Amino acid sequence: MPALLEAENLEAQYGWTKVLHGLRFAVEAGGITTILGANGAGKTTTLRAVCGMVKTAGTVRFEGRRIDGKATEEIVRLGIAHTPEGRGTFMNLTVQENLRLGAYVRKDRATLAGDFERVYQYFPVLAQRQRQQAGTLSGGEQQMLAVARALMSRPRLLLLDEPSLGLAPLVVREIFRIVRAINREEGVSVLLVEQNAAIALDLADHAYLLETGRVVMSGPSADLRRNESVRRSYLGY
Ligand SMILES: Nc1ncnc2c1ncn2[C@@H]1O[C@H](COP(=O)(O)OP(=O)(O)O)[C@@H](O)[C@H]1O
Ligand SMILES: [Mg+2]
Repeated sequence: MPALLEAENLEAQYGWTKVLHGLRFAVEAGGITTILGANGAGKTTTLRAVCGMVKTAGTVRFEGRRIDGKATEEIVRLGIAHTPEGRGTFMNLTVQENLRLGAYVRKDRATLAGDFERVYQYFPVLAQRQRQQAGTLSGGEQQMLAVARALMSRPRLLLLDEPSLGLAPLVVREIFRIVRAINREEGVSVLLVEQNAAIALDLADHAYLLETGRVVMSGPSADLRRNESVRRSYLGY
């Protein structure tokens, strides 16, 4: 069976500057894959490349179909949701309004109420704050809102860009616990990019290590965790 998402020879560039140099990676259906790398390695660009938000070459397949070159909105409609770097929250809108925007690509308005309920079940704190302006939420709550908003499009694949950034360890653990629950209970596959290798390797089943736009190592998370150089450079022990 082909993987849910497969990138081959993926390149991306900003203007004349190429920043991804032929990546190959996959996310299995039902799996959680992480792409690790230092600041500037190309993690954010990789997710943007999958979503059609940057100029690319190479192929990206989702459920066996080519999606490279498609418009972002079309890609979302096919079942890929992106929680971007910086979270993409509309600070002046309420929690509820932000969530409704996450469902904009869907036509079945009738099931919208059920989706709010389902998302609030995973993030009860957002239910309590439905009518509050997003700008008044804590950093952790804003990250939860970003993930929740992505879920509103009923994706099969969730792309998460450094959800741990700037958050306290306890809050990070809570968010990762919820992501795991969503993965297990709903079968939503996850592609997580992270600088925080320790927590990402705990969550993911498969990992890739990105250095200056190239995959320099990949394998089951347990293998990377045991790897001497990964430990020294990315795990700090
Ligand atoms: N909008 C942009 N224009 C030009 N260069 C960019 C832009 N965004 C990122 N880059 C460059 O692309 C490379 C990869 O960046 P990025 O994907 O953001 O890395 P990461 O998310 O791993 O920190 C870096 O060298 C960065 O400076
Ligand atoms: Mg980034």
